[in-house]
Amino acid sequence: MKLAWLTDIHLDHLWPRDVRDEQVVDTPERIIDFCESLKDYEFDAIVISGDVSLAGHKWISNFFATTEYCLKYMADTLKKPIYFVLGNHDYYFGSINTTRAKMVQLSDANDGITWLTNGYIVNLSSEIGLVGHDGWYDLRNGTLCRDYIMSEFEYVAEFSGYRSDWGIAERLCKELADDAADYFREVIPDALKTYNKLIVVTHVPPFAEVSKYRGKPTDEEHLPFYSNKAVGDALLEIAKAHPDKELVTLSGHTHGFAEFQALPNLKSVVSSAWYGAPALHKIIDLADNQIKIIDANQ
Ligand SMILES: [Fe+2]
Ligand SMILES: [Fe+2]
Repeated sequence: MKLAWLTDIHLDHLWPRDVRDEQVVDTPERIIDFCESLKDYEFDAIVISGDVSLAGHKWISNFFATTEYCLKYMADTLKKPIYFVLGNHDYYFGSINTTRAKMVQLSDANDGITWLTNGYIVNLSSEIGLVGHDGWYDLRNGTLCRDYIMSEFEYVAEFSGYRSDWGIAERLCKELADDAADYFREVIPDALKTYNKLIVVTHVPPFAEVSKYRGKPTDEEHLPFYSNKAVGDALLEIAKAHPDKELVTLSGHTHGFAEFQALPNLKSVVSSAWYGAPALHKIIDLADNQIKIIDANQ
C-alpha cells in the first residue's frame, strides 16, 4: 500500500490570470495538467493535509476551482480514494460551518472521498490506521502580537467583527484548535484499540519544532499562527499513555519540510509546498506494516 501525500496544493493559484466571470466554463487547464502529472506516480490512495483551494471566489461566480470541485475532479480523474482534512484557505470566501457541512455531504455522496474530520478511522493495513482533523493554529506558541492579521480574518465569515474586537479572532482560533485536540483525545485511543500504528493528519504543525519556512524555524512573532500547541500537547499525552503504539503526524500550512521525533513513538512531519506549483513531494510506503515517508521523485 502506497499513499500519495499532498499538502497545500492551493489549486486556486492555477486559475487563469486576469480571467473574470463567465470566461472559464470548465476545469482550468493547469488543474487538469496537475492531476495528469500525478498519474506518473504509483500509489493506491491520496492523503491531503489541507489547503486544497478556496470555498469560493471574491468575484467569480462560476469558479471551477473550489475545494469541493477540485476534490471531486481529482477523485473522478485519478480514480483513487482521497482522504483529506481542510486547511485555513479552504474556508476563504465562505464560512467554516457551511464548508464543513458541504464536506460531510461530499464524503457521504462519494465513496472515494473521505473528510477525515468527520470521525473516520480508516483501515490502511492490518496494523496501520488513518485519522485526521483540520485543526487550526492556537496562538499559544511564540509571542502573540494582537495587531497581526491573517487573511482568513478578512475572508472567512466567522471572523467578522475582529477589526473592532481582536478577541473575536483570538477566541475563535483557540476554540478551533482545541476542538482538534479534543477530537484526537477521543478518536486516537479508540483507533489504537484496533491498530498498532496510526497516521494522524492535521493541517497546522502540532509542534514548534516542525514549524519551518524555507528551512528556517518560524520566528517568535509568527509561531502563534503557524503551530497548534493544543494538538501537540494532546498527542504527547496520548503517545505517553500508549508507549507500545506508534504515531506519525502529517501536516502542512508552513509550506516547509520539517520532521521531529517528539517521543520514541511520536514523529511529526511537515511537507513542503509552493504557491502556483503544486506537486507530489512525498509517498508514504506502508510495506511490511512500516510507515516510511520517501521522496516521490527518488
Ligand atoms: Fe498553505
Ligand atoms: Fe494553511
